[in-house]
Amino acid sequence: MSEAPHSSHPLRVVVGVSGGIAAYKACHLVRNFKEAGDEVRVIPTQNALNFVGAATFEALSGNPVDTGVFTRVDEVQHVRVGQEADLIVVAPATADFMARAAAGRADDLLTSTILVATCPVVLAPAMHTEMWLNPATQANVATLRERGITVLEPAHGRLTGKDTGPGRLLEPDVIAELARTVLRTSTFAPTLAGKRVLISAGGTQENIDPVRYIGNRSSGKQGYALGDVAAQRGAKVTIVAGATDALDPPSGAEVIKVGSTREMQQAMAERAPEADVVIMAAAVADFRPEAEASTKLKKGKADDALSTIRLTENPDILKGLVQMREAGETAATIIGFAAETDNEFENGRAKLKRKGADMLMLNSVAGGGVFGQARNRGWLLSADGREEEIPDGTKHEVAARIWDAVERLSQ
Ligand code: CTP
Repeated sequence: MSEAPHSSHPLRVVVGVSGGIAAYKACHLVRNFKEAGDEVRVIPTQNALNFVGAATFEALSGNPVDTGVFTRVDEVQHVRVGQEADLIVVAPATADFMARAAAGRADDLLTSTILVATCPVVLAPAMHTEMWLNPATQANVATLRERGITVLEPAHGRLTGKDTGPGRLLEPDVIAELARTVLRTSTFAPTLAGKRVLISAGGTQENIDPVRYIGNRSSGKQGYALGDVAAQRGAKVTIVAGATDALDPPSGAEVIKVGSTREMQQAMAERAPEADVVIMAAAVADFRPEAEASTKLKKGKADDALSTIRLTENPDILKGLVQMREAGETAATIIGFAAETDNEFENGRAKLKRKGADMLMLNSVAGGGVFGQARNRGWLLSADGREEEIPDGTKHEVAARIWDAVERLSQ
C-alpha cells in the first residue's frame, strides 16, 4: 500500500461494501483510512458478506459490522451512523446497489444510512462493462449525481473473465484519495467534458550503458493525480509516463510509456496538436550522456569512461510545446511545473517567462520534499500575473486546485 496521507482531523468514515467480486478490495480501502488515523465503520450489504466475512471487516475497522436495521435496534444505528459520518464511500458499488440507492430504498443498513446522511457520499462502481453501460444503470448514475452523490467513473481494463472496458473498480488508494478530494476540495462536476488533456508524469531516464542510467526521484504521483481528477471531471486523458511508481492509469486514460527525454519529447509533440490542455508534470532529465555505451562500462579502464561521463543538454520539452503553439501547430493551454530549492519566487517567475507557458506550479523541493511524497503544496504563477497559493494537501487535492485554476484561465 502506498504511503497514507495524514489528515489533521480524524474523519468518521463509513465504508459501504456491496456484493461484487471486488469486495475484497474494500479491505485495502478500510486500511487506507485507518492508516490515515480515521475512525472507520464498515457497512456491507448481505450479498457483500458472500465475498468477505464480517470478521475481516470487524478486525480491520475495529468496529462491529451489521448489515440490517434490526440489530442493535436500541442504538438506532441506521440513523445515528449516517448522521455522524463525515464521509461515506461505497466500494464496490454494484449495479443493483446503485439501483436501490437511486430508488431511495431503505431495505438494509447501508441504503438507510445513505438516506440519512448529509455528508459527502462517494460511490465507486464495479461491474461488467455491459451492466455499466446499460441505460438503466446510466439513468441511475445520472439520478444519483443530480442528487449530489458522487459516482466515480470506474477504471477501464480487464474485468473478471476476458472482457475489457469501463467497469473495473478503481484502486482502493485512488478511491480514498478521490473521496478525500470530494470532501476537502471539490466535487467532480463534468467541467472538463469533451476536453482532451495530455499530461507528462514521472522522471525521464538517460542511459549510460545497458545497466546504468541517470534518473531522478520523481514518482509520477502528481501527474497521475492530475489525470485522475481530469478523468473524473469528464476529460479524455493521455499520460506520457517516464519512470513512475506502480500507479494505476486514470479512468479511461491512454498511457504511453517512455524512457528518455527525447522519447518523451516525441510522444508529447505527436499528441499536442489534438490536446486542449497540456501539463508537463514530468521531472525531465536536463542532460544525457553524450554517448550511450553498447556494452557495460568497466572500472579501471584506461579511457576511464565511467568516472568522467560527458553530458550533453537535452531539449526543453515545455519550451518546444510553446514553440509549436506559436507556429500554430497546437492551440492547447500549456502548464508547467517549477521545482526550486531556493529563491523560489524569483526563479519561478523567471522560469515562467523563459518557458512561455500559461501557468507554472511552483514547488519548493528543498530537502528532497515533494518527490515521492503523498502531499504537495506551492504556488500557481500565471502568465497574466495572477499568483495563487496552493495549500498543503494530498496530490489529488492539489490536482483539483490546479484544474480549478486551469479552468479559470480560459474564462
Ligand atoms: N522541462 C521540460 N524539458 C526539460 C526540462 C524541464 O519540459 N528539458 C519542464 C518540466 O517538466 C517542468 C518545467 O519544464 O514543467 C520546469 O522544470 P524544472 O526542472 O523546474 O526546470 P528546468 O527547465 O530544468 O530549469 P532549471 O534547471 O534552471 O531549474
